[in-house]
Amino acid sequence: MGGRGQAVSTVESAGLRIEERADRLVVTLDRPEKRNAIDADLVAVLHEVCGRLERDPKLLLLTGGTDGIFAAGADIAQLRERDRLDALAAINQAVFARLRALPLPTVAAVDGPALGGGAELSYACDLRICTSRASFGQPEVRLGIIAGAGATHRLPALVGETRAKELLFTGRRIDAAEALRIGLVNRVVDQPADLLGAAHELLDEIAKASPLALRLTKLAVDAPAAAHPQLDLVSQAVLFEDPEKHRRMTAFLDRKNR
Ligand code: COA
Repeated sequence: MGGRGQAVSTVESAGLRIEERADRLVVTLDRPEKRNAIDADLVAVLHEVCGRLERDPKLLLLTGGTDGIFAAGADIAQLRERDRLDALAAINQAVFARLRALPLPTVAAVDGPALGGGAELSYACDLRICTSRASFGQPEVRLGIIAGAGATHRLPALVGETRAKELLFTGRRIDAAEALRIGLVNRVVDQPADLLGAAHELLDEIAKASPLALRLTKLAVDAPAAAHPQLDLVSQAVLFEDPEKHRRMTAFLDRKNR
């Protein structure tokens, strides 16, 4: 057990707090004066977080904290000044894609609004837990742009095309109960004070698995349909010869034979 244990180190930079634990990073958006709006500095630190997790794979808990805001989206002051070349530079899109492709599972813990790029940041995580006062919305079309950092493809994958199109066309904010009902979040907790504990509990359950089996499971689930079943066969072939598989199965059989 180490996940929920003491932080090994905590670093603060450019609107982000990074707490390192034995088996996971806890990354907290911390730009309350701008409602955790994602600006270029925050994107740069998120890239650093991704680089760290690519080099040294760990679980990730990503949160906006428990003060009632996850993230108000891309920084509109910066967004307003961006031109077509900035759009093509895929500023938020690229870092969210990198987050989505991290080797081990990621959980977003959402308290309060997750809007625009903030909602897309949560979709870039594998799983989402939220409080009953959380909400999700894609207001981009009302600002004259598209939800260009993942919602057009991740939202339909998460909740189905019909619901996704309604949310993307209208910008309607959905509450936590609806998010749970349509499968956008895995779990809703009533009290903000319980949010991070619930997210850590989920990660603790995940942390019981073989890390290599987790990695290959994530790769297989995220692979395009055409990669199946070949990818699954190769993954299983790798795992069948992994000493960790032998150790885990032997432990199971020994327990049963006792
Ligand atoms: N980009 C830049 N600044 C933002 C921001 C964003 N996405 N969201 C909020 N802010 C800033 C506000 O301009 C304000 O700054 P100021 O104090 O310098 O005037 C500050 O954060 C507080 O915002 P405010 O609207 O007063 O907070 P609130 O608690 O009443 O409401 C929200 C919070 C998130 C509901 C509201 O700020 C909001 O709707 N934000 C925009 C959401 C959006 O359209 N996102 C899509 C971006 S693509």
